Amino acid sequence: MGLKHQTSKNSSSSLPTIRTTSFIILALLLTSFLLFFAPPAHHHLSDPFFQTEDPRFYGDLREAQFAWNKLCLGPVLEKLKLAVFSKTWPVGAAPGGMERHASTLYTALAARGHEIHVFTVPSDRKSHPDIHDGNLHVHFAANDHGSVNCSLAFEIFHKENNGKSFDYVHTESVSLPHWRAKMVPAVAVTWHGIWYEIMHSKLFEQLLSDPQGLRTGSDTELRDAMPRLVDEIKFFPSYTQHICISNSAGEVLTNIYQLPRRNVHVILNGVDDTKFVYDQDAGTRFRKQHGVPSNASVVMGVAGRLVRDKGHPLLYEAFLSITENYPGVFLLVAGTGPWGKRYAELGSNVKVLGALEPSQLSEFYNALDIFINPTLRPQGLDLTLMEAMQCGKTVLTPNYPSITGTVVINEGFGYTFSPNVGSFVEALERAIKDGPAKLHKKGMTCKDYATSMFTSTKMASAYERFFLCMKNSIYCKYPLPTDC
Ligand SMILES: *[C@@H]1O[C@H](CO)[C@@H](O)[C@H](O)[C@H]1NC(C)=O
Ligand SMILES: *[C@@H]1O[C@H](CO)[C@@H](O)[C@H](O)[C@H]1NC(C)=O
Repeated sequence: MGLKHQTSKNSSSSLPTIRTTSFIILALLLTSFLLFFAPPAHHHLSDPFFQTEDPRFYGDLREAQFAWNKLCLGPVLEKLKLAVFSKTWPVGAAPGGMERHASTLYTALAARGHEIHVFTVPSDRKSHPDIHDGNLHVHFAANDHGSVNCSLAFEIFHKENNGKSFDYVHTESVSLPHWRAKMVPAVAVTWHGIWYEIMHSKLFEQLLSDPQGLRTGSDTELRDAMPRLVDEIKFFPSYTQHICISNSAGEVLTNIYQLPRRNVHVILNGVDDTKFVYDQDAGTRFRKQHGVPSNASVVMGVAGRLVRDKGHPLLYEAFLSITENYPGVFLLVAGTGPWGKRYAELGSNVKVLGALEPSQLSEFYNALDIFINPTLRPQGLDLTLMEAMQCGKTVLTPNYPSITGTVVINEGFGYTFSPNVGSFVEALERAIKDGPAKLHKKGMTCKDYATSMFTSTKMASAYERFFLCMKNSIYCKYPLPTDC
Protein backbone atom coordinates (compact mmCIF):
# COMPACT_ATOMS: atom_id res chain seq x y z
CA MET A 1 0.00 0.00 0.00
CA GLY A 2 2.61 2.40 1.14
CA LEU A 3 4.68 1.66 -1.93
CA LYS A 4 1.78 2.29 -4.28
CA HIS A 5 1.08 5.58 -2.57
CA GLN A 6 4.68 6.58 -2.92
CA THR A 7 4.71 5.79 -6.65
CA SER A 8 1.61 7.82 -7.42
CA LYS A 9 2.92 10.72 -5.37
CA ASN A 10 6.17 10.63 -7.32
CA SER A 11 4.53 10.55 -10.71
CA SER A 12 2.16 13.39 -9.89
CA SER A 13 5.12 15.60 -9.05
CA SER A 14 7.45 14.21 -11.69
CA LEU A 15 8.35 17.53 -13.28
CA PRO A 16 9.97 19.20 -10.28
CA THR A 17 11.64 15.88 -9.40
CA ILE A 18 13.26 15.66 -12.79
CA ARG A 19 14.36 19.26 -12.54
CA THR A 20 15.85 18.66 -9.12
CA THR A 21 17.64 15.56 -10.36
CA SER A 22 19.04 17.34 -13.34
CA PHE A 23 20.16 20.18 -11.09
CA ILE A 24 21.94 17.79 -8.75
CA ILE A 25 23.58 16.00 -11.67
CA LEU A 26 24.70 19.26 -13.20
CA ALA A 27 26.09 20.37 -9.87
CA LEU A 28 27.93 17.06 -9.55
CA LEU A 29 29.33 17.37 -13.04
CA LEU A 30 30.36 20.95 -12.41
CA THR A 31 32.11 20.07 -9.18
CA SER A 32 33.91 17.20 -10.81
CA PHE A 33 35.12 19.41 -13.62
CA LEU A 34 36.07 22.30 -11.43
CA LEU A 35 38.15 19.96 -9.32
CA PHE A 36 40.12 18.89 -12.29
CA PHE A 37 39.96 21.47 -15.01
CA ALA A 38 41.78 24.33 -13.41
CA PRO A 39 42.22 27.65 -15.25
CA PRO A 40 45.31 27.94 -17.45
CA ALA A 41 47.38 30.03 -15.01
CA HIS A 42 46.92 27.51 -12.25
CA HIS A 43 47.60 24.78 -14.76
CA HIS A 44 51.14 26.04 -15.24
CA LEU A 45 51.84 26.56 -11.57
CA SER A 46 50.61 23.15 -10.53
CA ASP A 47 53.39 21.38 -12.43
CA PRO A 48 51.23 18.86 -14.30
CA PHE A 49 52.43 15.38 -15.06
CA PHE A 50 52.39 15.98 -18.80
CA GLN A 51 54.42 19.12 -19.35
CA THR A 52 54.52 21.42 -22.29
CA GLU A 53 57.89 23.01 -21.48
CA ASP A 54 60.90 21.23 -22.87
CA PRO A 55 62.98 19.47 -20.26
CA ARG A 56 66.15 18.20 -21.93
CA PHE A 57 65.28 14.54 -21.71
CA TYR A 58 67.64 11.61 -21.20
CA GLY A 59 66.40 8.20 -20.24
CA ASP A 60 63.58 5.73 -20.74
CA LEU A 61 60.93 7.04 -23.12
CA ARG A 62 58.21 5.19 -21.22
CA GLU A 63 58.82 7.68 -18.43
CA ALA A 64 58.51 10.70 -20.73
CA GLN A 65 56.23 13.35 -19.23
CA PHE A 66 55.63 15.26 -22.46
CA ALA A 67 54.44 14.57 -26.00
CA TRP A 68 56.76 12.26 -27.95
CA ASN A 69 56.48 14.70 -30.88
CA LYS A 70 59.04 16.86 -29.03
CA LEU A 71 61.77 14.29 -29.50
CA CYS A 72 64.25 14.50 -32.30
CA LEU A 73 64.25 10.91 -33.50
CA GLY A 74 66.74 9.55 -36.01
CA PRO A 75 66.28 6.74 -38.53
CA VAL A 76 66.13 3.12 -37.31
CA LEU A 77 66.96 0.07 -39.43
CA GLU A 78 64.71 -2.44 -37.68
CA LYS A 79 61.39 -3.10 -39.41
CA LEU A 80 58.09 -3.87 -37.70
CA LYS A 81 55.01 -5.89 -38.57
CA LEU A 82 51.96 -4.12 -37.15
CA ALA A 83 48.25 -4.94 -36.99
CA VAL A 84 45.86 -2.00 -36.91
CA PHE A 85 42.16 -1.90 -36.09
CA SER A 86 40.32 1.14 -37.40
CA LYS A 87 36.56 1.73 -37.54
CA THR A 88 36.82 2.88 -41.14
CA TRP A 89 39.36 3.60 -43.85
CA PRO A 90 38.92 6.62 -46.15
CA VAL A 91 37.93 5.86 -49.73
CA GLY A 92 36.60 8.31 -52.31
CA ALA A 93 35.72 11.79 -51.00
CA ALA A 94 37.98 13.15 -48.29
CA PRO A 95 36.46 12.61 -44.83
CA GLY A 96 38.31 14.02 -41.84
CA GLY A 97 38.73 12.85 -38.28
CA MET A 98 40.00 9.56 -37.00
CA GLU A 99 40.05 7.72 -40.34
CA ARG A 100 42.07 10.48 -42.01
CA HIS A 101 44.50 10.34 -39.10
CA ALA A 102 44.83 6.55 -39.45
CA SER A 103 45.45 6.71 -43.18
CA THR A 104 48.04 9.52 -42.84
CA LEU A 105 49.88 7.65 -40.10
CA TYR A 106 49.91 4.19 -41.64
CA THR A 107 50.73 5.34 -45.14
CA ALA A 108 53.76 7.10 -43.60
CA LEU A 109 54.83 4.04 -41.55
CA ALA A 110 54.49 1.74 -44.58
CA ALA A 111 56.61 4.18 -46.58
CA ARG A 112 59.30 3.78 -43.88
CA GLY A 113 59.41 0.05 -44.66
CA HIS A 114 57.19 -1.37 -41.90
CA GLU A 115 54.66 -4.07 -42.82
CA ILE A 116 51.22 -2.74 -41.93
CA HIS A 117 47.98 -4.73 -41.90
CA VAL A 118 44.83 -2.67 -41.32
CA PHE A 119 41.56 -4.40 -40.37
CA THR A 120 38.73 -2.06 -41.20
CA VAL A 121 35.81 -1.22 -43.53
CA PRO A 122 35.56 1.36 -46.34
CA SER A 123 34.33 4.78 -45.14
CA ASP A 124 31.57 4.87 -47.79
CA ARG A 125 30.19 1.53 -46.50
CA LYS A 126 30.23 0.13 -50.03
CA SER A 127 32.07 -2.94 -51.26
CA HIS A 128 35.71 -2.39 -52.26
CA PRO A 129 38.58 -4.80 -52.97
CA ASP A 130 41.34 -4.99 -50.33
CA ILE A 131 44.25 -2.59 -50.79
CA HIS A 132 47.79 -3.92 -51.22
CA ASP A 133 50.08 -0.99 -51.81
CA GLY A 134 53.72 -1.82 -51.12
CA ASN A 135 53.97 -2.54 -47.38
CA LEU A 136 50.45 -1.30 -46.68
CA HIS A 137 47.74 -3.97 -46.62
CA VAL A 138 44.17 -2.88 -45.92
CA HIS A 139 41.81 -5.80 -45.22
CA PHE A 140 38.13 -4.94 -45.43
CA ALA A 141 36.05 -7.08 -43.07
CA ALA A 142 32.49 -5.76 -43.07
CA ASN A 143 29.29 -7.24 -41.68
CA ASP A 144 25.86 -6.73 -43.26
CA HIS A 145 25.57 -3.19 -41.88
CA GLY A 146 28.92 -2.10 -43.28
CA SER A 147 30.73 -1.90 -39.93
CA VAL A 148 33.70 -4.09 -38.89
CA ASN A 149 32.88 -7.77 -38.34
CA CYS A 150 35.27 -8.52 -35.51
CA SER A 151 35.15 -12.30 -35.95
CA LEU A 152 35.94 -12.01 -39.63
CA ALA A 153 38.70 -9.46 -38.95
CA PHE A 154 40.26 -11.87 -36.43
CA GLU A 155 40.13 -14.76 -38.92
CA ILE A 156 42.26 -12.69 -41.29
CA PHE A 157 44.39 -11.45 -38.38
CA HIS A 158 45.23 -15.03 -37.33
CA LYS A 159 46.01 -16.04 -40.89
CA GLU A 160 48.48 -13.14 -41.19
CA ASN A 161 49.84 -13.79 -37.69
CA ASN A 162 50.55 -17.46 -38.47
CA GLY A 163 52.99 -16.61 -41.24
CA LYS A 164 55.14 -14.16 -39.29
CA SER A 165 53.66 -12.96 -36.03
CA PHE A 166 52.78 -9.31 -35.49
CA ASP A 167 55.14 -7.26 -33.34
CA TYR A 168 52.37 -5.10 -31.97
CA VAL A 169 48.66 -4.37 -32.34
CA HIS A 170 47.24 -0.86 -32.49
CA THR A 171 43.61 0.18 -32.25
CA GLU A 172 42.10 3.58 -33.00
CA SER A 173 39.82 4.05 -29.95
CA VAL A 174 37.53 1.05 -29.38
CA SER A 175 37.76 -0.26 -32.97
CA LEU A 176 39.16 -3.35 -31.26
CA PRO A 177 36.55 -3.80 -28.48
CA HIS A 178 37.82 -4.18 -24.92
CA TRP A 179 36.63 -7.77 -24.48
CA ARG A 180 38.76 -8.71 -27.50
CA ALA A 181 41.66 -6.48 -26.46
CA LYS A 182 41.93 -8.48 -23.22
CA MET A 183 43.07 -11.48 -25.26
CA VAL A 184 45.74 -9.45 -27.08
CA PRO A 185 48.43 -8.45 -24.57
CA ALA A 186 50.65 -6.59 -27.07
CA VAL A 187 48.07 -3.91 -27.79
CA ALA A 188 48.16 -0.12 -27.72
CA VAL A 189 45.08 2.06 -28.07
CA THR A 190 44.96 5.69 -29.21
CA TRP A 191 42.14 7.61 -27.56
CA HIS A 192 40.72 10.33 -29.78
CA GLY A 193 38.22 11.43 -27.16
CA ILE A 194 37.47 10.02 -23.72
CA TRP A 195 34.17 10.08 -21.88
CA TYR A 196 35.49 12.47 -19.24
CA GLU A 197 36.02 15.04 -22.01
CA ILE A 198 32.72 14.20 -23.70
CA MET A 199 30.96 14.96 -20.40
CA HIS A 200 32.72 18.30 -20.46
CA SER A 201 31.15 19.03 -23.91
CA LYS A 202 27.73 17.91 -22.74
CA LEU A 203 27.96 20.23 -19.79
CA PHE A 204 28.70 23.24 -22.01
CA GLU A 205 26.00 22.30 -24.51
CA GLN A 206 23.49 21.99 -21.69
CA LEU A 207 24.47 25.33 -20.16
CA LEU A 208 24.28 27.11 -23.51
CA SER A 209 21.13 25.53 -24.89
CA ASP A 210 19.15 25.69 -21.68
CA PRO A 211 20.54 28.43 -19.42
CA GLN A 212 17.38 28.56 -17.28
CA GLY A 213 17.11 24.79 -16.88
CA LEU A 214 13.57 24.79 -18.28
CA ARG A 215 13.82 21.94 -20.75
CA THR A 216 13.82 18.38 -19.49
CA GLY A 217 14.48 16.58 -22.79
CA SER A 218 18.19 16.00 -22.24
CA ASP A 219 17.80 14.71 -18.68
CA THR A 220 18.34 11.05 -19.55
CA GLU A 221 21.57 11.89 -21.29
CA LEU A 222 22.83 13.85 -18.31
CA ARG A 223 21.73 11.16 -15.90
CA ASP A 224 23.51 8.47 -17.94
CA ALA A 225 26.73 10.45 -18.18
CA MET A 226 28.33 9.47 -14.85
CA PRO A 227 27.54 5.72 -15.14
CA ARG A 228 29.10 5.76 -18.62
CA LEU A 229 32.25 7.32 -17.18
CA VAL A 230 32.40 4.66 -14.47
CA ASP A 231 31.96 1.98 -17.12
CA GLU A 232 34.77 3.46 -19.23
CA ILE A 233 37.17 3.69 -16.29
CA LYS A 234 36.45 0.00 -15.60
CA PHE A 235 37.15 -1.27 -19.09
CA PHE A 236 40.16 0.89 -20.02
CA PRO A 237 42.64 -1.44 -18.23
CA SER A 238 41.70 -4.13 -20.81
CA TYR A 239 44.12 -2.30 -23.09
CA THR A 240 47.80 -2.54 -22.16
CA GLN A 241 49.25 0.71 -23.55
CA HIS A 242 47.39 4.00 -23.94
CA ILE A 243 48.23 6.86 -26.29
CA CYS A 244 46.51 10.22 -25.87
CA ILE A 245 46.40 13.06 -28.36
CA SER A 246 46.68 15.88 -25.79
CA ASN A 247 48.58 16.45 -22.55
CA SER A 248 45.34 16.99 -20.65
CA ALA A 249 43.87 13.64 -21.72
CA GLY A 250 47.11 12.04 -20.50
CA GLU A 251 46.61 13.66 -17.11
CA VAL A 252 43.00 12.45 -16.92
CA LEU A 253 44.04 8.89 -17.76
CA THR A 254 46.64 8.87 -14.99
CA ASN A 255 44.83 10.92 -12.34
CA ILE A 256 41.15 10.06 -12.85
CA TYR A 257 41.23 6.73 -14.71
CA GLN A 258 44.21 5.72 -12.54
CA LEU A 259 46.11 3.89 -15.26
CA PRO A 260 49.81 3.23 -14.57
CA ARG A 261 51.85 6.25 -15.67
CA ARG A 262 54.30 4.04 -17.54
CA ASN A 263 51.43 2.85 -19.75
CA VAL A 264 50.13 6.31 -20.69
CA HIS A 265 51.84 8.22 -23.49
CA VAL A 266 51.11 11.40 -25.40
CA ILE A 267 51.54 11.57 -29.18
CA LEU A 268 49.93 14.59 -30.79
CA ASN A 269 48.24 14.38 -34.18
CA GLY A 270 50.04 15.90 -37.10
CA VAL A 271 49.00 17.66 -40.27
CA ASP A 272 50.68 17.52 -43.67
CA ASP A 273 53.33 20.23 -43.54
CA THR A 274 53.82 20.16 -47.30
CA LYS A 275 50.15 21.12 -47.86
CA PHE A 276 49.80 23.76 -45.15
CA VAL A 277 52.53 26.35 -45.59
CA TYR A 278 53.06 30.00 -44.78
CA ASP A 279 52.68 32.00 -48.02
CA GLN A 280 51.82 35.70 -47.79
CA ASP A 281 51.36 36.15 -51.55
CA ALA A 282 48.82 33.31 -51.69
CA GLY A 283 46.95 35.04 -48.87
CA THR A 284 46.88 38.39 -50.69
CA ARG A 285 45.63 36.71 -53.88
CA PHE A 286 42.91 34.88 -51.96
CA ARG A 287 41.70 38.15 -50.41
CA LYS A 288 41.45 39.85 -53.81
CA GLN A 289 39.79 36.84 -55.40
CA HIS A 290 37.05 36.74 -52.79
CA GLY A 291 36.44 40.47 -52.52
CA VAL A 292 37.80 41.13 -49.05
CA PRO A 293 37.74 44.98 -48.81
CA SER A 294 41.27 46.38 -48.75
CA ASN A 295 40.35 48.70 -45.85
CA ALA A 296 39.25 45.79 -43.58
CA SER A 297 40.87 46.36 -40.17
CA VAL A 298 41.13 42.70 -39.14
CA VAL A 299 40.30 39.67 -41.30
CA MET A 300 39.04 36.72 -39.28
CA GLY A 301 38.27 33.24 -40.56
CA VAL A 302 36.46 30.11 -39.51
CA ALA A 303 36.45 26.71 -41.25
CA GLY A 304 34.65 23.39 -40.99
CA ARG A 305 31.12 22.10 -40.77
CA LEU A 306 28.78 24.99 -39.95
CA VAL A 307 26.75 23.20 -37.28
CA ARG A 308 25.63 23.93 -33.75
CA ASP A 309 28.13 21.75 -31.86
CA LYS A 310 31.04 23.37 -33.66
CA GLY A 311 30.03 26.52 -31.79
CA HIS A 312 28.55 28.53 -34.66
CA PRO A 313 25.62 29.93 -32.65
CA LEU A 314 28.25 31.43 -30.30
CA LEU A 315 30.37 32.94 -33.06
CA TYR A 316 27.28 34.31 -34.80
CA GLU A 317 26.16 36.17 -31.66
CA ALA A 318 29.65 37.35 -30.78
CA PHE A 319 30.42 38.63 -34.28
CA LEU A 320 27.07 40.40 -34.52
CA SER A 321 27.88 42.21 -31.30
CA ILE A 322 31.47 43.06 -32.25
CA THR A 323 30.60 44.65 -35.62
CA GLU A 324 28.57 47.34 -33.84
CA ASN A 325 31.73 48.80 -32.30
CA TYR A 326 34.26 47.67 -34.91
CA PRO A 327 32.69 48.07 -38.40
CA GLY A 328 36.04 47.38 -40.11
CA VAL A 329 36.31 43.70 -39.08
CA PHE A 330 35.71 41.09 -41.75
CA LEU A 331 34.82 37.40 -41.42
CA LEU A 332 35.59 34.70 -44.01
CA VAL A 333 33.56 31.52 -43.52
CA ALA A 334 34.79 28.31 -45.20
CA GLY A 335 32.51 25.28 -45.13
CA THR A 336 28.89 24.31 -45.45
CA GLY A 337 26.04 23.63 -43.06
CA PRO A 338 22.88 25.13 -41.59
CA TRP A 339 24.68 28.16 -40.16
CA GLY A 340 26.05 29.24 -43.58
CA LYS A 341 22.80 30.97 -44.46
CA ARG A 342 22.64 32.84 -41.17
CA TYR A 343 26.22 34.10 -41.57
CA ALA A 344 25.35 35.32 -45.08
CA GLU A 345 22.53 37.39 -43.56
CA LEU A 346 25.02 39.29 -41.40
CA GLY A 347 25.74 41.52 -44.38
CA SER A 348 28.81 43.13 -45.94
CA ASN A 349 31.21 42.23 -43.09
CA VAL A 350 30.91 38.52 -43.83
CA LYS A 351 31.70 36.38 -46.86
CA VAL A 352 30.54 32.75 -46.93
CA LEU A 353 32.84 30.78 -49.22
CA GLY A 354 31.14 27.37 -49.14
CA ALA A 355 33.22 24.19 -49.22
CA LEU A 356 36.85 24.72 -50.25
CA GLU A 357 39.03 22.24 -52.10
CA PRO A 358 41.81 20.87 -49.88
CA SER A 359 44.29 22.76 -52.08
CA GLN A 360 42.49 26.08 -51.40
CA LEU A 361 42.46 25.62 -47.63
CA SER A 362 46.08 26.66 -47.19
CA GLU A 363 45.45 29.85 -49.19
CA PHE A 364 42.36 30.52 -47.08
CA TYR A 365 44.38 30.34 -43.85
CA ASN A 366 47.05 32.57 -45.35
CA ALA A 367 44.43 35.22 -46.18
CA LEU A 368 43.55 35.69 -42.49
CA ASP A 369 44.86 37.85 -39.67
CA ILE A 370 43.44 35.41 -37.14
CA PHE A 371 41.79 31.98 -37.23
CA ILE A 372 38.77 31.35 -35.02
CA ASN A 373 37.69 27.93 -33.79
CA PRO A 374 34.55 28.29 -31.67
CA THR A 375 34.06 24.52 -31.02
CA LEU A 376 31.99 23.31 -28.08
CA ARG A 377 33.85 19.99 -28.00
CA PRO A 378 36.78 19.88 -25.63
CA GLN A 379 37.80 16.35 -26.65
CA GLY A 380 40.44 15.57 -29.19
CA LEU A 381 42.29 18.22 -31.05
CA ASP A 382 40.77 19.97 -33.98
CA LEU A 383 43.15 19.64 -36.91
CA THR A 384 42.09 23.06 -38.25
CA LEU A 385 43.89 24.78 -35.36
CA MET A 386 47.13 23.02 -36.29
CA GLU A 387 46.65 23.70 -39.99
CA ALA A 388 46.12 27.41 -39.36
CA MET A 389 49.17 27.57 -37.07
CA GLN A 390 51.25 25.77 -39.69
CA CYS A 391 50.23 28.57 -42.10
CA GLY A 392 51.53 31.16 -39.63
CA LYS A 393 48.23 32.25 -38.11
CA THR A 394 47.41 33.08 -34.52
CA VAL A 395 44.22 31.47 -33.19
CA LEU A 396 41.23 32.36 -31.05
CA THR A 397 39.57 29.39 -29.40
CA PRO A 398 37.86 28.17 -26.20
CA ASN A 399 40.03 27.60 -23.14
CA TYR A 400 39.56 23.83 -22.87
CA PRO A 401 42.37 21.92 -21.14
CA SER A 402 43.17 20.00 -24.35
CA ILE A 403 43.83 23.36 -26.03
CA THR A 404 45.51 25.41 -23.28
CA GLY A 405 47.69 22.44 -22.28
CA THR A 406 48.85 21.54 -25.77
CA VAL A 407 48.08 24.13 -28.47
CA VAL A 408 47.58 27.70 -27.22
CA ILE A 409 49.94 27.19 -24.30
CA ASN A 410 50.28 30.88 -23.50
CA GLU A 411 49.18 34.32 -24.66
CA GLY A 412 52.05 34.53 -27.12
CA PHE A 413 50.16 32.04 -29.30
CA GLY A 414 46.69 33.52 -29.34
CA TYR A 415 43.47 34.13 -27.45
CA THR A 416 41.24 31.87 -25.42
CA PHE A 417 37.77 32.34 -23.95
CA SER A 418 35.14 30.50 -21.93
CA PRO A 419 32.38 29.10 -24.12
CA ASN A 420 29.86 31.93 -23.63
CA VAL A 421 29.10 34.98 -25.75
CA GLY A 422 30.41 37.55 -23.22
CA SER A 423 33.81 35.92 -22.87
CA PHE A 424 34.00 35.33 -26.65
CA VAL A 425 33.31 39.04 -27.38
CA GLU A 426 35.92 40.07 -24.85
CA ALA A 427 38.55 37.84 -26.53
CA LEU A 428 37.63 39.17 -29.98
CA GLU A 429 38.06 42.71 -28.66
CA ARG A 430 41.51 41.89 -27.31
CA ALA A 431 42.52 40.54 -30.73
CA ILE A 432 41.07 43.51 -32.64
CA LYS A 433 42.80 46.00 -30.31
CA ASP A 434 46.11 44.17 -30.79
CA GLY A 435 45.73 44.67 -34.57
CA PRO A 436 47.25 42.91 -37.61
CA ALA A 437 50.93 43.56 -36.76
CA LYS A 438 50.72 41.97 -33.31
CA LEU A 439 48.50 39.19 -34.66
CA HIS A 440 51.15 38.48 -37.28
CA LYS A 441 53.85 38.27 -34.61
CA LYS A 442 51.81 35.73 -32.64
CA GLY A 443 51.17 33.88 -35.90
CA MET A 444 54.92 33.45 -36.41
CA THR A 445 55.25 32.04 -32.88
CA CYS A 446 52.44 29.59 -33.76
CA LYS A 447 54.19 28.62 -37.00
CA ASP A 448 57.48 27.78 -35.26
CA TYR A 449 55.73 25.75 -32.60
CA ALA A 450 53.49 23.91 -35.10
CA THR A 451 56.47 23.04 -37.25
CA SER A 452 58.25 21.57 -34.26
CA MET A 453 55.24 19.62 -32.94
CA PHE A 454 52.29 19.13 -35.28
CA THR A 455 53.72 17.80 -38.53
CA SER A 456 52.68 14.40 -39.86
CA THR A 457 56.38 13.47 -40.06
CA LYS A 458 56.80 14.17 -36.33
CA MET A 459 53.72 12.09 -35.58
CA ALA A 460 54.91 9.16 -37.71
CA SER A 461 58.40 9.22 -36.10
CA ALA A 462 56.84 9.24 -32.64
CA TYR A 463 54.57 6.26 -33.37
CA GLU A 464 57.41 4.40 -35.06
CA ARG A 465 59.65 4.77 -32.03
CA PHE A 466 56.79 3.90 -29.71
CA PHE A 467 56.14 0.55 -31.42
CA LEU A 468 59.89 -0.17 -31.64
CA CYS A 469 60.17 0.51 -27.90
CA MET A 470 57.23 -1.81 -27.22
CA LYS A 471 58.87 -4.57 -29.25
CA ASN A 472 62.38 -4.14 -27.91
CA SER A 473 63.23 -2.02 -24.86
CA ILE A 474 66.60 -1.05 -26.37
CA TYR A 475 64.60 1.47 -28.40
CA CYS A 476 63.04 2.96 -25.27
CA LYS A 477 66.38 4.61 -24.50
CA TYR A 478 66.71 8.25 -25.54
CA PRO A 479 68.71 9.59 -27.15
CA LEU A 480 70.14 6.73 -29.21
CA PRO A 481 73.38 7.43 -31.08
CA THR A 482 71.23 7.75 -34.24
CA ASP A 483 68.95 10.39 -32.68
CA CYS A 484 69.61 14.06 -33.29
C1 LIG B 1 30.96 -12.17 -39.34
O1 LIG B 1 31.95 -13.05 -39.81
C2 LIG B 1 31.77 -14.39 -39.39
C3 LIG B 1 33.01 -15.19 -39.78
O2 LIG B 1 33.34 -15.05 -41.13
C4 LIG B 1 30.48 -14.92 -40.04
O3 LIG B 1 30.27 -16.25 -39.66
C5 LIG B 1 29.31 -14.05 -39.58
O4 LIG B 1 28.14 -14.43 -40.22
C6 LIG B 1 29.58 -12.57 -39.86
N1 LIG B 1 28.57 -11.77 -39.22
C7 LIG B 1 27.91 -10.77 -39.82
C8 LIG B 1 26.91 -10.06 -39.01
O5 LIG B 1 28.13 -10.45 -40.98
C1 LIG C 1 35.88 50.83 -46.67
O1 LIG C 1 35.75 51.37 -47.95
C2 LIG C 1 34.43 51.36 -48.46
C3 LIG C 1 34.44 51.82 -49.90
O2 LIG C 1 35.36 52.87 -50.12
C4 LIG C 1 33.54 52.24 -47.58
O3 LIG C 1 32.20 52.23 -48.04
C5 LIG C 1 33.58 51.70 -46.16
O4 LIG C 1 32.85 52.53 -45.28
C6 LIG C 1 35.02 51.59 -45.66
N1 LIG C 1 35.01 50.89 -44.39
C7 LIG C 1 35.73 51.28 -43.35
C8 LIG C 1 35.60 50.47 -42.11
O5 LIG C 1 36.47 52.24 -43.37
